[in-house]
Amino acid sequence: MRPRIVCHMISSVDGRLHPSRWTPPAAGINAGLPHRHYEEVAGRLGAEGWIVGRKTMSEIAKGSERNPAAAGGLPRETHVADRKGRDLAVAIDPHGKVHYGQDNAGGDHVVAILGEGVSDAYLAELREDGVSYVFAGRNGHDLAHALDTLDEAFGVKTLLLEGGGAINGAFLKARLIDEISVLVTPAIDGLSGVPSIFDYVGAIDERPAAGQSLRHLSTETLEGGFVWLRYRVEDAPASA
Ligand SMILES: NC(=O)c1ccc[n+]([C@@H]2O[C@H](COP(=O)([O-])OP(=O)(O)OC[C@H]3O[C@@H](n4cnc5c(N)ncnc54)[C@H](OP(=O)(O)O)[C@@H]3O)[C@@H](O)[C@H]2O)c1
Repeated sequence: MRPRIVCHMISSVDGRLHPSRWTPPAAGINAGLPHRHYEEVAGRLGAEGWIVGRKTMSEIAKGSERNPAAAGGLPRETHVADRKGRDLAVAIDPHGKVHYGQDNAGGDHVVAILGEGVSDAYLAELREDGVSYVFAGRNGHDLAHALDTLDEAFGVKTLLLEGGGAINGAFLKARLIDEISVLVTPAIDGLSGVPSIFDYVGAIDERPAAGQSLRHLSTETLEGGFVWLRYRVEDAPASA
């Protein structure tokens, strides 16, 4: 069984994701509040780790490519390194582009979700770094299978999906999101085309959220005018 997935994001009131573009806080409001609220609220969601897309993890990971020699062919099988009881930092990285240089991201144990086409040298590098990995089919896009494997290998019951918009959109389209948690910041971006919470990459006639409905769970207003919204994702009514 796959873990419960809570998509947890912070955005401007127009749903945009790049804080550096947002209007500044109103006079007297602490500029450190967005980060503080985001982490505090995340801690209340009871997750055992977090998932991000390859591009977002590339901004976090600080390693560089090493190409170590791989003795013989390494099997495309789940590799569980030493988790040391830590939460999981999961990266959806189909082509093996992220280099870690260590076994953690922000103190949480790294698990790479890969396509089977990655090189043996890349797998050897992950093993040297102490990183765990699992496979998501040939092209690395079988997210449901990867989540089932995460539960089997690590026993995680709840994970936060924390962006960016592309990977959130892929999870939405695959109907793998159980809850949406959005921290709305009192700020505006305002420009057309800036990445937003869900940025599924597809054809113009696709509806990535088709067949799904949101049921309100709770709303909390936090210091500084931040609003924390929680919705359960349900199957849409048959008539919709
Ligand atoms: N405000 C916030 O809360 C927040 C949170 C997170 C991120 N961000 C920002 O968002 C930006 C990155 O977001 P992003 O949307 O461009 O990238 P992303 O979602 O972080 O990563 C997208 C990548 O994930 C991989 N991927 C694996 N399976 C996929 C699938 N089924 N569909 C689509 N992609 C799949 C692809 O890697 P390959 O290209 O290698 O195939 C794809 O390019 C960063 O600037 C980051 O700072 C903001």
